[in-house]
Amino acid sequence: MTVTGAAGQIGYALLFRIASGQLLGADVPVKLRLLEIPQAVRAAEGTALELTDGAFPALHSVDVFDDPTQAFEGANVALLVGARPRTKGMERGDLLEANGGIFKPQGTAINAGAADDIKVLVVGNPANTNALIAASHAPDVPAERFTAMTRLDHNRALAQLALKLNVPVSSLSKVTIWGNHSATQYPDITQALVDGKSVSEAINDQAWVENEFIPRVAKRGAEIIEVRGASSAASAASAAIDHVYSWVNGTPEGNWTSAAIVSDGSYGVPEGLISSFPVTSAGGSWEIVPGLEIDEFSRGRIDASVAELAEEREAVQKLGLI
Ligand code: NAD
Ligand code: LMR
Repeated sequence: MTVTGAAGQIGYALLFRIASGQLLGADVPVKLRLLEIPQAVRAAEGTALELTDGAFPALHSVDVFDDPTQAFEGANVALLVGARPRTKGMERGDLLEANGGIFKPQGTAINAGAADDIKVLVVGNPANTNALIAASHAPDVPAERFTAMTRLDHNRALAQLALKLNVPVSSLSKVTIWGNHSATQYPDITQALVDGKSVSEAINDQAWVENEFIPRVAKRGAEIIEVRGASSAASAASAAIDHVYSWVNGTPEGNWTSAAIVSDGSYGVPEGLISSFPVTSAGGSWEIVPGLEIDEFSRGRIDASVAELAEEREAVQKLGLI
């Protein structure tokens, strides 16, 4: 398993959960391959020492690399967490270009040396478009193996609904995040159920849905940055675990989750964009939940987020990154 950005905040929260067997199952042996930039290799080596000290039964080895070709050699699962954050004065184009410099060589390295069953989750932002860049440099890997994380948004939506309805999250099902992992995302409760009954009917307050629930979920990343003084880390790591666990072990009967996967044109999302959908997983493959009715409000919200993804794709095309 390869994890990039291993010396970062998310890496620190993620690696110990992987080592304890929570990603693939307690009995599955894990060989960790950590990728960092040269300046952060020492810190990643420190994390590797602590991983050793955890004496995790499932953890068979930990190796640290600063070269993507070596880091992805033989990988079955790749968690692409390391990314270039937006800094002061940076335009969106600058951010996309800086991240192209990271995800292009990583896609190439995955293409060259990862195992045939490689599954890739991109966490580093802008996650959907970074996944698109990596996928476009891995022509021998099926495009559906490149995914981006909207599971944190999905979990945030579940948590807000559980608070509103005063139920445990386990009472809720069929919540969806559509589109981009950005403030344009659409957290959709039109199909959602609470103990088998309609969430919309139980809440019966469209103003709350539009003016409080949707913006709270869509802007939660910014709220965490403001309140915590740093981007979400443990909740992001937890969502990454959830995403890969569902992908490998399947989703429960009668429910779905959300993941950004390559569009096959479903629900009017242009083919090839990596967009969040309602998805189920079986046999190690995601499938978009077919045939859902999309009301007019939802259509507008999905279209707006997908338009942003299309703009990002156009921007990286112009920069020669895909
Ligand atoms: P961080 O700055 O603490 O860590 C990032 C690490 O990535 C650093 O150690 C850095 O050295 C490393 N890195 C940079 N370029 C690299 C490269 N080319 N190869 C390997 N490693 C590299 O950041 P963090 O808090 O861990 O967040 C990581 C990313 O995840 C950010 O882009 C953040 O915006 C994103 N994020 C996404 C979600 C989501 O839901 N999709 C949620 C939270 C955070
Ligand atoms: C989040 O949703 O918490 C992050 O994507 C926010 C960010 O910009 O790192």
